[in-house]
Parts: sequence; C-alpha cells; structure tokens
Amino acid sequence: MSLRSAVWLLFLVARPLSAVLALSSPTTIFTLPGPAQPASWFENLAVRPNGLILATRGDAPEIWQINPVTGQGSLLVSVEGAFNLTGIAQVIPIDETVDEIYVFGSSHIPAPLEVEPGSAKVWTLRFPSNLTTTTNTAGSPTVSLLAALPSAGFINGIAPWDAGRVLLSDTDAEAIYLMNVAGTTNPTSPPGTYSTPLTGLAGINGIQTTALTITSKTQGLEPGSDERVGGGGVGRRRKTTTGWRYIYRANHLSQTLSRIPVDSSDATPLEPGSPPPEEVLATEQAIDDFAVVVEDDQEGGGRAYIAGMYDNEVVEVVFGTEVPGVKRVIADNVSGTGTGLVTAVVFGRRPEDAGLLYATVGQGGGSASIVVLDPNE
Ligand SMILES: *[C@@H]1O[C@H](CO)[C@@H](O)[C@H](O)[C@H]1NC(C)=O
Ligand SMILES: *[C@@H]1O[C@H](CO)[C@@H](O)[C@H](O)[C@H]1NC(C)=O
Ligand SMILES: *[C@@H]1O[C@H](CO)[C@@H](O)[C@H](O)[C@H]1NC(C)=O
Repeated sequence: MSLRSAVWLLFLVARPLSAVLALSSPTTIFTLPGPAQPASWFENLAVRPNGLILATRGDAPEIWQINPVTGQGSLLVSVEGAFNLTGIAQVIPIDETVDEIYVFGSSHIPAPLEVEPGSAKVWTLRFPSNLTTTTNTAGSPTVSLLAALPSAGFINGIAPWDAGRVLLSDTDAEAIYLMNVAGTTNPTSPPGTYSTPLTGLAGINGIQTTALTITSKTQGLEPGSDERVGGGGVGRRRKTTTGWRYIYRANHLSQTLSRIPVDSSDATPLEPGSPPPEEVLATEQAIDDFAVVVEDDQEGGGRAYIAGMYDNEVVEVVFGTEVPGVKRVIADNVSGTGTGLVTAVVFGRRPEDAGLLYATVGQGGGSASIVVLDPNE
C-alpha cells in the first residue's frame, strides 16, 4: 500500500465507537532528504489554515512546508542569522484581512544541550493574505527578525495568546514572556517588546493556552466553556481579553504536565507567588510539546496529547474528570526505527484531518520525519 493510500485510509475508515482502543499505527508522511547521519531533527510544527504543515529544523536554520495529502515537502525558508530553530505558532489575527503570521524561535545550539548564551531570537514568518486560500499555495513568505533576546536563555515553546500576541517559554530563565507581534491596539507596546508575567517555572518546555468565556476573576476558578485554542497551533479570532484562562505547560525536569490559571489580559497568575500555584495533570511522563483539547464542561476537563521525547511515544492524558491523570500510550515506535525523539504533536486543521495528530520525529537513526496518527484508533 502506498503512503498516500495509507493516509487516505486513515481519513476514511470509520471506527466503531465501542471498540477497545488499540495502539495507533503511526504513518510517516514525509522524511527530510539528505544523509541519515548525522541524524536531522525537527523541533516543532504548526499547521496552516490551508492544511499545510510548517516544520522547524533543530539542526539547521530552515522551515520546511509539507503537504500531508501528497507527502510532498520542500524547503520554504532558510533563515539568515539563525542557527537552530525552535518553537513555532501562528499569531491570532487581529482582523480578517491581515496576513497569516507565524512566530518562531532560534538559538545557537552548537551541540546537543549546549546553547550559546545570548543567542536567542524570535522571528516572524509572514504569508501575504492573498496567498492563504486552500488552493493557492504559491508565493514566497517573508521572514523578519522580531526581537533579539540577548538576556533570554533558550526560547523553546511558543503559543498564541490573543490577537497579535504570543507566549514564549524560556527554558533557561524558567519564565514565560508575553510578546507583542503585530498590530496590537496598545500604542505603548511595539512589536518585539514583552513582559514577563510568569517566573519560577523550572523545567518549562512546551506551552499551550485555551480561552475561557468567564469574564470576571471574581467568579473564581470555575471554568466555563473552554475552547481549544492552542491545540492546533492557533485558534479562534478572539479579541476579548477579560477574565482568566489556563496556561498549560510541560516540565521536562519533573516530568509533569500542569496548568496555571492566569489573567486573560496580561497572563499574570491569579494567585500571587513565584513559582505560581500549578495544578498537576500528569506525572512521570517524559514530555516535550503537546496538544490540548478541552471539553465544554464545568470541570475544566479535557485531554492532552504529549510528545514523549526519547520514549518515542505519543501519550494521551485525561484530566479534570473523576479519574484524572489517566494515561494511555496511543502510539509507540513513532519513528518506525525503534529509537527516536518525538518533539511536538499538533492537530490537523482541515475537515478531513481535524481529529488526526501530526508529530515531529527525529534523531532516530534516520532523517527527521513527520508522522500522522489517529488518537481514536
Ligand atoms: C545547530 O545548527 C547548526 C547549523 O546551523 C548545526 O551544525 C548543528 O549541528 C545544530 N545543532 C544541533 C544540536 O543539531
Ligand atoms: C498579493 O499581495 C502582495 C503583497 O501585498 C502583492 O504584491 C501581490 O501582487 C498580490 N498578488 C495577487 C495575486 O493579488
Ligand atoms: C518499529 O517499527 C518498524 C516499522 O514498522 C519495525 O520494522 C520495527 O521492528 C519496530 N521496532 C520496534 C522496536 O518496535
């Protein structure tokens, strides 16, 4: 069976709801060309509204664009002035007409676990708004330096926050920054400037957010309708900045996933303190980046899909129910080579793949690849 028909089968085969869930069979849809040694690796990915995948390379200053339907991928941009790329996320547009903008990070990582001090930068990748339809995938996006961050340590995860702003996690500084990207209404906040709403976050790695409809802090911590915003790499066009919401965050040192309730406007903790009080959702879990789906219930319940790093697995965690923290390995041997590094998982954004997860895999004795898997298989 060709790769392509395998992918279509994933889309088309209906599964009985009552069936006992088995391991998903990860299907590799794209592998980087080039020598397998030294092994290449993708650090992160984002899915565009038109369904194409953007993947950042950790071993080169490159973003690749991959079509998950055809399995074709090509070098989209090579970033001059960067060495190794890190997180990537789409910026929530400030209105319907603006360009499709992504923020990604870079650092100089000469060797694994060795980051050159002062080398962190964040960049924008911008597709002109007339190139964002599902049929028109041509045209060159532009890359610009948004900010050089010599005092930052290692910009790792990136998540959309609200229209025109993103969150950045700094693994070395154990902090989260809230950065202005474009067109925010506050004239005192030019692009590239940021605040540091959260500190004391040891082991911080991947971060995601969700938006809550609760409009007042005084309503306490009872979540209302909690929409998926971060899980797909980007979310709704949401301009409201009142109330509170959660920041979900990985801690790769303590191997936990947790969430912190913060103010929706400035991302500062609802309860004072550094480190801020966190609700632990999963423990004993090798964790890099992850996707979050939050149910529309009163318990703040949902599921997270975790890239299990060198465990070469994707793990589902259920939280907010009577039996929180239930974990299930939904796919193992994700690399297909026995060993590998799973760095990020993101949901598709087309009707055909909205329930499927795309994962970035590398360092598995082969070239970096993009894998698709069905969490409900
Ligand atoms: C970082 O990128 C450079 C090329 O820009 C590459 O030589 C180096 O191996 C990369 N580091 C890692 C850890 O992959
Ligand atoms: C798309 O937008 C760009 C930048 O605004 C412009 O230069 C280009 O001519 C436009 N292309 C089409 C087909 O409208
Ligand atoms: C991983 O998957 C590949 C491809 O299906 C298979 O050949 C290999 O035996 C598997 N390795 C392990 C350790 O499961």
